[in-house]
Amino acid sequence: MTIIEPEKFRAFEHAGWENIPGGYHEVFGGLTVQAAEPLLNAAGVKRRINFLDIATGPGYVAAAAAKRGATVLGVDFSPAMVAQARQLHPGVDFRAGDAEQLPLGNGLFDAAAMNFGILHLGRPEQALVEAHRVLRSGGRFAFSVWAPPQETIGFGIVLRAVELHGEPRVDLPEGPPFFRYSDPDECIRGLVVAGFESPSVTKVSQLWRLPAGDGLFNAMKDSTVRTAGLLRAQKPTVLNKIRDAMRAELAKYTKGDVANLPMPALIASGIKP
Ligand SMILES: C[S@@+](CC[C@H](N)C(=O)[O-])C[C@H]1O[C@@H](n2cnc3c(N)ncnc32)[C@H](O)[C@@H]1O
Repeated sequence: MTIIEPEKFRAFEHAGWENIPGGYHEVFGGLTVQAAEPLLNAAGVKRRINFLDIATGPGYVAAAAAKRGATVLGVDFSPAMVAQARQLHPGVDFRAGDAEQLPLGNGLFDAAAMNFGILHLGRPEQALVEAHRVLRSGGRFAFSVWAPPQETIGFGIVLRAVELHGEPRVDLPEGPPFFRYSDPDECIRGLVVAGFESPSVTKVSQLWRLPAGDGLFNAMKDSTVRTAGLLRAQKPTVLNKIRDAMRAELAKYTKGDVANLPMPALIASGIKP
């Protein structure tokens, strides 16, 4: 049986994100920003409302909400990410804070969102309860996650390569399954248990543009946390085989110097009664 260790997992994630704000922005920024507008629509973000972006990272969703005229706060548990968000979006307010224990009072926000954050949490249920707590009655919360790896081609390629050539069970702090909320029923269950009403889930298509060749291997090895841990734990000879397999798969999505990978996302939302 897998035993999840939320504190160890949190420390592992924290150390990882502290090290990669620049790489994440460069490699994933153009992808995760594609979910920002659908996410803000699902959270009902408009002019003059108070909006909270949880696990804001480089602040894409916060900045998009500010553009809509909302009053925005972005929080992230990584000071390095917060520093980067402040640098990228000087007009927006960013603060350090943990999604599982938000340093904010009850009922302060009209809307909140979390873009690809929930899959990095040791206690995602607690983060849903916290999002609910900081919303006013009638406030909306929306979060995004990746679709399953059969559809998110970049994840499918790396996981298949590790399964075929490497050791998929490595000694890393155990967290909840990465694709847990890729199941719409699980999103709805999570929202309802946290107290949200009218839960709904939609899917949006997104495309990940990467350099051809080792673009995907490098992205996964250098600009992620859990997947990077999985790759770095492989023996060097095995890692070479994984890289070659990923290169060959990426070639199927490559034209010239650029690969375009389908990476759809689910957007889940609910309303605080
Ligand atoms: C995949 S990134 C998503 C960043 C951003 N929301 C985006 O749209 O690209 C995950 C972010 O969650 C943050 N994070 C992970 N665990 C967290 C926690 N417990 N509390 C707050 N932020 C957390 C990381 O520091 C990282 O910035």
